Amino acid sequence: MIEHDTTLAGIARSLVASGKGILAVDESTATCNKRFAKLGIAQTEEMRRSYRDLLLSAPGLAGFISGAILYDETLRQSTADGTPFVSVMESAGMLPGIKVDTGTVPLTGGSSEKITEGLDGLPARVAEYRRLGARFAKWRAVVTLGDGLPTQQCLEANAHALARYARLCQDGGLVPIVEPEVLMDGAHLLAECERVTEETLQRVFAALRLYGVALDAMILKPSMVIAGTDAAAQADGDEVARATVACLRRTVPAAVAGIAFLSGGQGDVRATEHLDAMNRLPVAKPWPLTFSYGRALQEPALEHWCGATDHVAEAQRRLVQRARCNAAAACGAYTPAMETEAVIDATYRDAFEPPAEAAFETPLFNERSLFRAV
Ligand code: 13P
Repeated sequence: MIEHDTTLAGIARSLVASGKGILAVDESTATCNKRFAKLGIAQTEEMRRSYRDLLLSAPGLAGFISGAILYDETLRQSTADGTPFVSVMESAGMLPGIKVDTGTVPLTGGSSEKITEGLDGLPARVAEYRRLGARFAKWRAVVTLGDGLPTQQCLEANAHALARYARLCQDGGLVPIVEPEVLMDGAHLLAECERVTEETLQRVFAALRLYGVALDAMILKPSMVIAGTDAAAQADGDEVARATVACLRRTVPAAVAGIAFLSGGQGDVRATEHLDAMNRLPVAKPWPLTFSYGRALQEPALEHWCGATDHVAEAQRRLVQRARCNAAAACGAYTPAMETEAVIDATYRDAFEPPAEAAFETPLFNERSLFRAV
């Protein structure tokens, strides 16, 4: 019998296990409806349930996906035959997670910057989510770049909210995913994104320390360092990989259990290529680097499904195909040929062996300095 480590640190390690990543399927009802509306899909609770059923029941998904982040509505839903999604996931070997923030609002009156809400009443919600089967949680903060932005207030307020959320989750028995997203919107160049991402992460880790968050029992979910969508010059994949890893090495303590990137609106294949390029870099990365994509995993499946029952099987195949490509990228073993290969056998994952540790330079961060042991 396989023994599972059910400590918070053990769950965090399982989420970033070699050759696996996290599926983000925690869009709020409003966001999910917006995506459905674009494709002419009816915006009803039953259609949202059917769509999440399709995703979570996809055959072979668990070979590449360690856990999925759900939204409040989804955590309480079941498959068409009445099996709770949580049970479907557990049987397949995927950990159920839950988005616990309640979304963003203007930081102050008239501000274009955002603060994430959801701290009020959080301990009670964490307790309920844990009873419902959730084992980890997510909170997303957003940082906007622009003329004079971000402000110090925005960085500080969001860092504190993330840290307080993370501590409350650990106290209540959930592994926190800490997600400070530097948005791709705007005309900023890669160097500006790198500067802001570094400052953001420094603040976040200072706040996590202040709140005594155990680093080996949390996962960081950052954005990649990338030029803005309207930038005059886009960086190539190698530049994105180098800038992102360099920025993380300067800011993220080695004790953090793992780093799982969001895709942030990058194309699906680009998000895979960037993750692969990072894992191939011949520099020490003291944490697993994997994916926690929403759009970059779901889009091909959603666009094919479009609400049609007879499209379910092909939509599931497209989801598992993307998960498989990203699982390979998490080991630096992705090849473009995988985009068209038909093999979606979970055992295929065994081929994604990460490069030997000896091939890397001496790690910069080799001290496991936990802020707090749990
Ligand atoms: P994207 O990969 O679509 O950015 O979504 C990830 C996520 O969880 C956003 O909070």
